[in-house]
Amino acid sequence: MNYRMREASMDDIALITNIYNQGIEDRVATLETSLKSVDEMKDWMTNRSDKHKVLIIEDCNGAVKGWASINTFNSRCCYSGVADISIYIEREERGKGLGKTLLNYLVKVAQEQGFHKLVLSTFEFNEAGKRLYRSVGFREVGTYINQGTLDGKFVNVTIMEKLL
Ligand SMILES: CC(C)(COP(=O)(O)OP(=O)(O)OC[C@H]1O[C@@H](n2cnc3c(N)ncnc32)[C@H](O)[C@@H]1OP(=O)(O)O)[C@@H](O)C(=O)NCCC(=O)NCCS
Repeated sequence: MNYRMREASMDDIALITNIYNQGIEDRVATLETSLKSVDEMKDWMTNRSDKHKVLIIEDCNGAVKGWASINTFNSRCCYSGVADISIYIEREERGKGLGKTLLNYLVKVAQEQGFHKLVLSTFEFNEAGKRLYRSVGFREVGTYINQGTLDGKFVNVTIMEKLL
């Protein structure tokens, strides 16, 4: 199967929402526990600068299989060259190389947009996530212990970074 990457449009928002909600349900990727509505995700897509792109990977039939986003890390001017990132692959498509392909594309787009560094937070137990990030050159900065709660239990959160 051939895949294609491109910037997302509002037409993709229902599928982006669906894939994000799978990540929320699976409890592997985010401290969010409430599923998102398409309207909430439309707001998320609208309220971002032109530099803070949302990207998708789709198959040759145009079916969206995953998305990734370049997010504001901190609104202070001194951090304008740093972006936070998110990435979610459709549940049935994980472990097939799509995440790595999409993340490499995101790195290229972030460079084109003038960012000098990407950062992210991941659950310490998210081995698939950490391996994906390491495989495209992210390093572990450190781990916050008991940083958040998920279903009433503390979780440790690892911070990673990649200089571009
Ligand atoms: C994490 C995620 C984005 C990875 O994408 P993917 O398409 O499944 O990963 P890939 O197939 O491209 O594999 C990338 C690397 O991760 C490794 N990997 C993939 N799934 C793995 C798993 N379940 N356990 C351990 N390593 C795994 C691969 O071996 C590969 O490493 P390598 O290049 O060193 O061989 C995807 O699994 C996902 O969407 N998970 C749910 C949401 C999530 O966790 N997002 C990240 C939040 S921080």
